[in-house]
Amino acid sequence: MIIGGSASQKLAANVAEELEDCLCSIETKKFPDGERYIRIKGKIDKEAVIVQSTGYPQDENLIELLFLIQNLKDLGCEKIKVVIPYFGYGRQEKRFKEGEAISAKIVANLIEKSGADEILSINLHEDSVREFFTIPTKNISAMGAIAEYIDNITEEPIIIAPDKGALSFAEEIAKILDCRCTYMNKVRLGPDKVETKIADIRCDFDPDDPELKDLKKNEEKKVDIQSVEGKEAVIIDDIIATGGTIVNAIGILKEHGAKSVNVCCVHPLLVNDAILKIYAAGAKSIAGTNSLKSEVSCISIAKVIADALK
Ligand code: R5P
Repeated sequence: MIIGGSASQKLAANVAEELEDCLCSIETKKFPDGERYIRIKGKIDKEAVIVQSTGYPQDENLIELLFLIQNLKDLGCEKIKVVIPYFGYGRQEKRFKEGEAISAKIVANLIEKSGADEILSINLHEDSVREFFTIPTKNISAMGAIAEYIDNITEEPIIIAPDKGALSFAEEIAKILDCRCTYMNKVRLGPDKVETKIADIRCDFDPDDPELKDLKKNEEKKVDIQSVEGKEAVIIDDIIATGGTIVNAIGILKEHGAKSVNVCCVHPLLVNDAILKIYAAGAKSIAGTNSLKSEVSCISIAKVIADALK
């Protein structure tokens, strides 16, 4: 029995199709005063899977998820697997400044206390978020699906991580596609301001070279800095929010003569005019997964989720 919350209805339907499981319908609405209403229609199975991302509007989607979980438990469901393709509040996984709420921990507590038995998420911003749960929690990678997409739109790509945090994604894709990857240095100056430098660009990273496997060793080795000139660059990041990170990266790649720059991400948050800014900076295309609904969510993670649930 698969249930899709408002944020992930189509994805839930696709997961149900992959698993050849039945898709349960729900009624969800807002009362005139803004409060949420949830009703699960049909017979309740002993086991259920809920699919619900908690992106914008985060609080509403989260409340809906909590209502779904606890309602299912109250109605006799014994085991509930909760798939949260995009885990909202996941970026505040620690107290960066004194007195801050550790939002990711609070959200994890709420979900677990509501009655979830297992959690599955896709490319959590920080894997450490799993530690806030005491129930089994999987953090699945969408890089296989993204690599397949990149393979279809490029001949000989070079995968670019716009910051060090995204390097593991670039490496994962480079390994699948047997191509090169590199990263840039980024410093965040504020929620919507980042500074990016090309200082450490590493274009001749061979993912199969055992000596270069470990990033630290690789940095010590200071591999030759090569140009991206004439190359089909593909930027990969977990999240595109304001687009600032990607705009900076495109600028540097264009400056260094990249033939084209395609942009991929797992979670297309795309705040305000992010899409426009990225195209205006010179992107050939922007693609994200359907962990969140958006104009660019063309890479399906239904199979990735279904395989993890099997
Ligand atoms: C940060 O560490 C993330 O991986 C993304 O790079 C970041 O969230 C992107 O934010 P923005 O699009 O606002 O630059």
